[in-house]
Amino acid sequence: MLMLTLHSLPWKWILVSLVITAGLASLLRKGSREANTLSLSQGELKLPSWPREINGWQVLHLSDLHFRDGSDLPDRVMAIIQHTHPDCVIITGDLLAPGGKGRAEAKRFLQNVSARWPTFAVPGNKDALRDRMHVDRSELLDEWRSTEAKVLLNSAIPVSYQGKRIWIAGVDDPHTRKDDLAAALRDVPAGEPVVLLAHSPVVIKRDGIERASVIFSGHTHGGQICLPGGTPLYIHTSLPCRYSSGVHTVANGESLLVVTRGVGHTRLRLRLWCPPEMTLWRLQSIGE
Ligand SMILES: [Fe+2]
Repeated sequence: MLMLTLHSLPWKWILVSLVITAGLASLLRKGSREANTLSLSQGELKLPSWPREINGWQVLHLSDLHFRDGSDLPDRVMAIIQHTHPDCVIITGDLLAPGGKGRAEAKRFLQNVSARWPTFAVPGNKDALRDRMHVDRSELLDEWRSTEAKVLLNSAIPVSYQGKRIWIAGVDDPHTRKDDLAAALRDVPAGEPVVLLAHSPVVIKRDGIERASVIFSGHTHGGQICLPGGTPLYIHTSLPCRYSSGVHTVANGESLLVVTRGVGHTRLRLRLWCPPEMTLWRLQSIGE
């Protein structure tokens, strides 16, 4: 009787289910581990329109931190970047997690970073105190401004390096169409070097983008969940998937676009074949 019952069980399907469950569990473990593995990389950008007198200027690029309430991520990031010596830190938005979470953590992080290095930030589409409607930002941005960080909302600020002027310009979030590139560059004299911060790389579609010597952006998370080898499945912009991350020549060869995979993650607390990224960039003119 027992023999007959065991024999009648669908063993083949039970085995297949067990293999799939074990595979998924292993993938989830890998994704969780990868999402929490922070590292800092270094690179050089060869820019077509960068004066050689300011070669070697360095920026530390952070984006999409997506701090959650009570998260230790701000401290973990600080522990990694504290030994670097950038000329400035640039943050291309999405410090908060969806739903306005991580607000206190974002402020504390900006306080710590801006107390140590000149810091410039633009908001992302998640930097709102109420999600979806993208409203209630002024209170949040006032908190950021209460630190020493400069919050750029369609504006530009000059900095000096080797006696020469570099403009750091920033647009409001292009993903939600709050950006105004013309306003951001209004005070910038023609021909002067411009480092443009924009949360979404979709800003490369805007008129006048060739005035930026280099554009730093994030938003895509590099796809966050990718196929083995790093091919993204979805990047949340109208740009082709090749813009998910990396350095791209844009504006008819006049400018470079840098898209970072960012530091944090949203929705699924996972990253697959798409690790977090923080980069210290050294800017050079193309002939050097
Ligand atoms: Fe993001």
